[in-house]
Amino acid sequence: MISNEHISDVFVSIFQTDAEWISSAPGRVNIIGEHTDYNGGYVLPAAINREVKMAASLRGDNRLFLYSEYHREMYETLISTKIAPPPQKSWHNYFLGVAEQFQKKHLPVPGMNVLISGDVPLGAGLSSSAAYEVCAATLLNTISEANLAPREIALLAQAAEHGDFVGVKCGIMDQYISAMALPDHALLIDCHTLDATPVPFNSRKASIAIINSMKHRKLVGSEYNRRRAECEEGLRLISEWSKKSFSSLRHIPSEVFDRFKEQLPLDVRKRLRHNLTENDRVRACVQFFACDNFKEVGHMLYASHASLRDDFEVSCAELDAIVDIASRCEGVYGCRMTGAGFGGCALALVAPEKVESFKSRMIEEYNRMFSKTPEIYITPPSAGANVLRKKNG
Ligand code: GLA
Repeated sequence: MISNEHISDVFVSIFQTDAEWISSAPGRVNIIGEHTDYNGGYVLPAAINREVKMAASLRGDNRLFLYSEYHREMYETLISTKIAPPPQKSWHNYFLGVAEQFQKKHLPVPGMNVLISGDVPLGAGLSSSAAYEVCAATLLNTISEANLAPREIALLAQAAEHGDFVGVKCGIMDQYISAMALPDHALLIDCHTLDATPVPFNSRKASIAIINSMKHRKLVGSEYNRRRAECEEGLRLISEWSKKSFSSLRHIPSEVFDRFKEQLPLDVRKRLRHNLTENDRVRACVQFFACDNFKEVGHMLYASHASLRDDFEVSCAELDAIVDIASRCEGVYGCRMTGAGFGGCALALVAPEKVESFKSRMIEEYNRMFSKTPEIYITPPSAGANVLRKKNG
């Protein structure tokens, strides 16, 4: 957590004036439901206790100053009628992409000083970019008095990620949970209807441990888009063969998949099988959470990992090893890779009294295998984005 005092002090030292607003938005860990969001399926993420935080003041002119505490760099541009993408992509694109979405809605983006800070690890699969976008959108929502609901903020942040400034065709999960999370709850998101249902998480029975493999997620953009294309191809083929137009993979009944699966190209068949079984696991988990049955939740996590490894093929040696080590540690209910894959993090649900022994064994065994030390973050399911008015500007 970045304290409000810290960000206010840094703001004064950079901009020589007091901050008027502070906004924050958390990163996320996905408990289960991977690569299902862009296929109209179910996901069950929770917000983590790490966030992106911004402090801002109005300037009274039409210039936008952005300072990144992480990069120790200032970026300056004119907030002219239409913001254009800078020639090369950098950290400021996320803010500009969100500002562009406000302009598209004819909402004012005034001249501002903005300090950007945070402690969500970058490139680790904990959605630092979604947290950044939702944080910027939450700030601009207040400053421009747009009154967007959290759901609209999430959709606007996703549009910013899809647009020219960032250009990643992500699903809705990351921005939704960052904007709408509740403390001590995971959120069941139906990515077809966009309904979100809070699911209580009993932290007395289980702790969420996030294990950062410290393997940078190489290839994630190109492989992610390839998986998306394979899923779309599967949906198209099954709709054509069955003469029914299914609106997403989630709507394909398992009998229909079984009827046509042998005709599908092998990779496409495996991607679809992962999606169909993963949606069932998410729904089962919600039932198990309702009765604090962490043992069964754990079985679902292991099954999800196996499906991501063998059918969706987005795991890697490091993540497989983490899951294997976790499965041999006392007090672990279940473990799986979390996020897009190809590196990044795994999540384990661990009995609270066993967390310390779990951490030491994980660090020791993983270090022995890969000669690097995994970072382990313990987090309660945390609150979604918010904004605080510090003084009347
Ligand atoms: C990334 C995307 C999400 C989701 C996950 C995989 O985090 O941003 O929308 O597709 O990968 O579940």
